[in-house]
Amino acid sequence: MTRRGSSVPARGAPRGRAAPARFVALILAAGQGKRMRSARTKLIHGLAGGTVISRVVQAARDAGSARIIAVIGVQAGEVRAAIEEGSGASVTPRVEYCTQERQLGTGHAVLAAEGLLHGGKGTLLILNGDVPLVRPSTLRSLVSAHRRRKAALTLLTTRLEDPRGYGRILRRAGGSLSGIVEQADLGGRTKLEEIREVNAGLYCAEIDGLFTALRATSRRNVQKEYYLPDLVGALLRTGRRVDALLHPDAGEVLGINSRADFARVVRTLNQRKLAELMEEGVTILDPEATYVDPEVSVAEDVILHPMVHLEGSTSIGAGSVIHAGVRIVDSTLADGVEILDHCLIHDAIIGPGARVGPFAHLRPGTRLGASTRIGNFVETKKATLGDNSKANHLAYLGDAEIGRNVNVGAGTITCNFDGWSKHRTVLEEDVFIGSDTQLVAPVTVGRGAFVGAGSTITKDVPAGSLALSRAKQRNIEGWAVKRRRDAASTPGKKGSRRR
Ligand code: UD1
Ligand code: CA
Repeated sequence: MTRRGSSVPARGAPRGRAAPARFVALILAAGQGKRMRSARTKLIHGLAGGTVISRVVQAARDAGSARIIAVIGVQAGEVRAAIEEGSGASVTPRVEYCTQERQLGTGHAVLAAEGLLHGGKGTLLILNGDVPLVRPSTLRSLVSAHRRRKAALTLLTTRLEDPRGYGRILRRAGGSLSGIVEQADLGGRTKLEEIREVNAGLYCAEIDGLFTALRATSRRNVQKEYYLPDLVGALLRTGRRVDALLHPDAGEVLGINSRADFARVVRTLNQRKLAELMEEGVTILDPEATYVDPEVSVAEDVILHPMVHLEGSTSIGAGSVIHAGVRIVDSTLADGVEILDHCLIHDAIIGPGARVGPFAHLRPGTRLGASTRIGNFVETKKATLGDNSKANHLAYLGDAEIGRNVNVGAGTITCNFDGWSKHRTVLEEDVFIGSDTQLVAPVTVGRGAFVGAGSTITKDVPAGSLALSRAKQRNIEGWAVKRRRDAASTPGKKGSRRR
């Protein structure tokens, strides 16, 4: 895995604009994130179908990094898993890892990668692991500006209304950069506190001379850490060129330190996605109350009602309508599907013109054909319904293979579990299942057969036949009239109560 120097394999052209000549990305992901007050490092918190760290890695990849190195430390295994999750075996470049044993600061974290970059020349793009909104195009602009100006270090800065928590950018009278002061080291100096230009935590550095300069920094500060921003002063002192690129969109380079930052990032990502969808012809009735993950695809003329959540790898076909309170995860809906209010749909495939809900629960492995109907309080799991089949009310269909034009009556249950293992129910095409039927699997109801209401079916039903298993009804004439009469003639006895 370890590759020495900058002799790196070329990768395919990244998405979007032409990439600058190749560069290596270094992602700082060893810290804890105390201000989040979480048992888990902030970098592995779930964000829009991925995690904070996986989004940063993806941005580095999409920007065209030739290599990606992550510095890990706190909960290294979990951070690594978060980075690897969802990036298939074919994804390049693979992430290389190095460990920062003790978290002595961001400058110290960069030093941990020296072994992997030793003797290397070329450009290093250094990214804080907690800046998940950054766009690949911004990273490419940073690398390009850095190359154009032939700087030893270029950092991205932005202006914030409320700069608290960020390192403040110091400039000389002429405007040239002179250093960065961390929030913790402001020491109540209002002049510095009021500086609105801040360090975004995204840097581009020449590898040549980088580690020497970092070793010249010290821990003499309030946090007793080696600060990566101190690289500015260290390089300037040796006469090297340091530049800053001011980024106009502060929202894009927001770092996550607290839960409030996290919520802002979630919101920004969501608003970005919704804006994209509306551009593409999707109606969103209330963009303040609609949640769509970045990888979801939604076709033209889809209508999303309030409180809809579309997650993971979901895709919604043209003209579909998703009503209020519906959550759809990793599912594919064809064109013209209608999902009525309050359904949960997970890992399902739904055919064109199907209608589901209200209050339906489609669990993994549900496959609904064209024009199918799944009504209220119906739960499906590993169940296939052929075209035009219906289960309109109150049913559980698990491990079931249901053909075309089948009508499943209200209250039907597939008894698929015998306490040890699961068994299949097969309903062939044109079958009619009367209400309140239990289908004790394994069992097959043959083509065109009827099952009478209230039956418990334990044996296969031949095609074209009627199955009835309920007890035969007996009517006792006059029984109720006699009972009431008896009760009335016995003192202290109430007509409707049994003794
Ligand atoms: C950092 C910058 C600050 C900048 C801000 C932008 C420093 C000292 N300050 O502050 O100027 O305005 O980012 O968001 O760099 N990490 C390690 N090892 C460590 C410490 C941190 O890998 O020993 C990682 C963290 O996991 C995180 C990143 O470095 O991903 C940044 O660390 P964080 O503590 O969030 O830095 P800030 O205080 O936000
Ligand atoms: Ca931070």
